[in-house]
Amino acid sequence: MVTVFRLCFLTLLFFSPVAFSELCNPEDKKVLLQIKKDFKNPYLLASWNPDTDCCQWYCVECHPQTHRITSLLISSSVPDTNLSGPIPPSVGHLPYLETLRFHKLPKLTGPIQPTIANLTKLKELYISWTNISGPVPHSLAQLINLQFLDLSFNNLSGPIPSSLSQLPNLLSLRLDRNKLTGPIPDSFGSFKRSGPSLLLSHNQLSGPIPASLAHIDPQRIDFSRNKLEGDASMLFGRNKTTQMVDVSRNLLAFDLSTVEFPTSLISLDLNHNNITGKIPVGLTAVGFLQGFNVSYNRLCGEIPQGGRLQKFDVDAYFHNKCLCGSPLPNCN
Ligand SMILES: *[C@@H]1O[C@H](CO)[C@@H](O)[C@H](O)[C@H]1NC(C)=O
Ligand SMILES: *[C@@H]1O[C@H](CO)[C@@H](O)[C@H](O)[C@H]1NC(C)=O
Ligand SMILES: *[C@@H]1O[C@H](CO)[C@@H](O)[C@H](O)[C@H]1NC(C)=O
Ligand SMILES: *[C@@H]1O[C@H](CO)[C@@H](O)[C@H](O)[C@H]1NC(C)=O
Ligand SMILES: *[C@@H]1O[C@H](CO)[C@@H](O)[C@H](O)[C@H]1NC(C)=O
Ligand SMILES: *[C@@H]1O[C@H](CO)[C@@H](O)[C@H](O)[C@H]1NC(C)=O
Ligand SMILES: *[C@@H]1O[C@H](CO)[C@@H](O)[C@H](O)[C@H]1NC(C)=O
Repeated sequence: MVTVFRLCFLTLLFFSPVAFSELCNPEDKKVLLQIKKDFKNPYLLASWNPDTDCCQWYCVECHPQTHRITSLLISSSVPDTNLSGPIPPSVGHLPYLETLRFHKLPKLTGPIQPTIANLTKLKELYISWTNISGPVPHSLAQLINLQFLDLSFNNLSGPIPSSLSQLPNLLSLRLDRNKLTGPIPDSFGSFKRSGPSLLLSHNQLSGPIPASLAHIDPQRIDFSRNKLEGDASMLFGRNKTTQMVDVSRNLLAFDLSTVEFPTSLISLDLNHNNITGKIPVGLTAVGFLQGFNVSYNRLCGEIPQGGRLQKFDVDAYFHNKCLCGSPLPNCN
């Protein structure tokens, strides 16, 4: 079977330098060739031959009418790719880019290239599974068309910039699996719309979860494996439509008894915290709960009977202070 990747190389053989009509914008072509040069001619970009139409090159897409470069998608499924070094400044000189992706490039190093903040048409920015380091730049807040920002599985450090809440169209923010420190910004309670899904797990975030998050209604929240303290009840509330909340493995300490859960919840993971009180009866009304874990807390009292709460194993409830009742042993 001929793979797409191989096809890219075959097309090189059949394109003659004299007989082709070029669709690609010459400015974009110049920039792409500069990017290739800055990366020192990696094998992944071997199809970027100056004698051919750059709209035909591997890893790029042109707009069907204007033929400007709208996507640059550089990713590798093989671990031994020789694409290495920092993201070149020239990436910021493709003004019509809507999607930029660097994915699974373990030798991609250095900071998030500052010129990326000039790509104001970007809707999707993914830099994930690389070795980029340094801070998440405040200037990404200039990318007002961004819908998806995914900087997960890198080596980023420093605080989460509060300016990201200014992104009015953001649907999903992924900063999980880095080395980010400091608090979740207060400003995250003022995201436009209902607020993006917030996936911030596996960092070293600390301090309280801002009370302002009561005002947003993200579809998914994953704050697990950080060092967050205190209350998490603002993530819930009867009026929200959140489907997934994972705040497991933090230092959260609050009374669960009076929390009102949205009936939209599909998955709730609170394990390994310091949560007190009882499991509220209201949870029996959450009809589509598929995942549930309150283990390793300091909960007490009888597990309410009904809804889906008896569908979960003992290990969803074990290691609490004095929880009892099905699926745990009866209360006396
Ligand atoms: C990557 O490999 C290609 C072909 O194998 C070679 O031409 C190129 O110089 C290499 N680039 C780097 C940065 O090692
Ligand atoms: C962004 O573009 C402007 C105008 O083209 C330029 O002056 C500025 O230096 C660029 N900023 C970065 C960070 O590249
Ligand atoms: C990531 O980059 C650091 C230097 O910034 C280097 O020490 C480390 O070996 C790199 N890791 C990988 C997997 O390339
Ligand atoms: C992250 O960067 C540090 C140095 O800045 C380096 O020692 C470490 O190996 C990097 N981690 C990964 C997973 O590459
Ligand atoms: C829920 O929404 C209703 C109507 O929109 C409103 O009256 C009520 O105050 C809200 N409750 C909370 C807890 O926000
Ligand atoms: C849990 O809370 C208790 C009482 O407030 C406190 O003594 C204990 O240190 C806390 N444990 C953790 C792991 O935070
Ligand atoms: C709940 O979490 C604990 C701790 O990580 C784990 O041991 C247990 O298997 C989990 N149970 C369920 C049902 O997810």
